[in-house]
Amino acid sequence: MNLLLWIIAFIGHLGSWCVVYNRTHATSWPRKTRKRCEKLIIVAVLLPMFWFAARAISRRTISIWDLASEGKAEWLYLYLSVGLGVFFIGRWIRRKLQSPPDSLLSAQQSIIDAQRELGRNIYLTSLAKLLKRIPFNQSHLIAIDSFEVGLDRLPHELDGLKICHLSDFHLTGQIDLAYFERVVEETNRFEPDLILVTGDLIDELDCLDWIDSVFGQLKSKHGTFFIRGNHDLRIADQEMLLQRLRNAGPNGMVWVGGKCESVSINGATVSLTGNELPWHSGAESLGRDSLPDNALHLLLSHSPDQIDWAKPFEFDLIFAGHNHGGQIAIPFVGPIVAPSKFGVLYASGNFQIEKSFMHVSRGLSGDECIRINCPPEVGCFTLRKT
Ligand SMILES: [Fe+2]
Repeated sequence: MNLLLWIIAFIGHLGSWCVVYNRTHATSWPRKTRKRCEKLIIVAVLLPMFWFAARAISRRTISIWDLASEGKAEWLYLYLSVGLGVFFIGRWIRRKLQSPPDSLLSAQQSIIDAQRELGRNIYLTSLAKLLKRIPFNQSHLIAIDSFEVGLDRLPHELDGLKICHLSDFHLTGQIDLAYFERVVEETNRFEPDLILVTGDLIDELDCLDWIDSVFGQLKSKHGTFFIRGNHDLRIADQEMLLQRLRNAGPNGMVWVGGKCESVSINGATVSLTGNELPWHSGAESLGRDSLPDNALHLLLSHSPDQIDWAKPFEFDLIFAGHNHGGQIAIPFVGPIVAPSKFGVLYASGNFQIEKSFMHVSRGLSGDECIRINCPPEVGCFTLRKT
């Protein structure tokens, strides 16, 4: 019983600081401020653990009741942690029991080991090489996740429409260009009608020259559409960045940040709206009347936190990224951190948000090349009329 209570208290303690971490990383605060918060959170996580460990050694007891009786603060912190632990476990069980949306007709995954295929080390920096040594690190893999989605509002002309969703490339120079070229190859192999790129394309100026080899080689029958994410702000000259992305390769990409573009496919209209909030303005001035009537409405949103903004628009499909699936998913538990006001609820996967089907991509890379139980994702969608 004593051990169980300690475990629940630990879950409550760690879980509550994960909540703080997730919420601070969901804001548009400057990077410096968020990094300071990160350090404070680490101290807040470790301090009570050291405190109770030191008390346990000096009192020669590991009884949670004895240590709680040390003082009012100890009593309050331990029992509050146990209460929060029970709450987090209950919420986790409820989440695990949730079934996928009815409109998800099928889901399949195939995995490519890009590093093995290329036959050489794809990690370029010492930090990346060090992280690669962590057992079960999957940051060199490419998961091709194929989904069939049934929509009753889908125009007959769009039955079988193929959409490829890519997110969070994070071109930092830590992973070789050849890895991302392999991602593009797999995307093009799907022969998509549309390609949607939902932000965090490029982090480092040094990788600007990769734009043509990566984004410029994406091939889609009716266009490649993109929005920016928070990491794209690391490129100071945003106008130059947008220009380079628009002119990438032979076909270029269409920027839909804070606006709505339409394409005609087989005589039916598909609208593509972009939301880059809260990091880039634009979407706040959009209204339902910005969208054409009688169309399939798609939303590209960097963060799934924009679902409340999206609800009045009744988009048919929402494509988001930003959360990277939490990057580290503990076996049976799942991810514990994601930069979202919803915590890990929308870390990755498929969800029904009122009338909208939402897919949150695990993305392709990140600030740190570490992924456990969370392989980088190429999302391939085929839409079916139901
Ligand atoms: Fe990202």
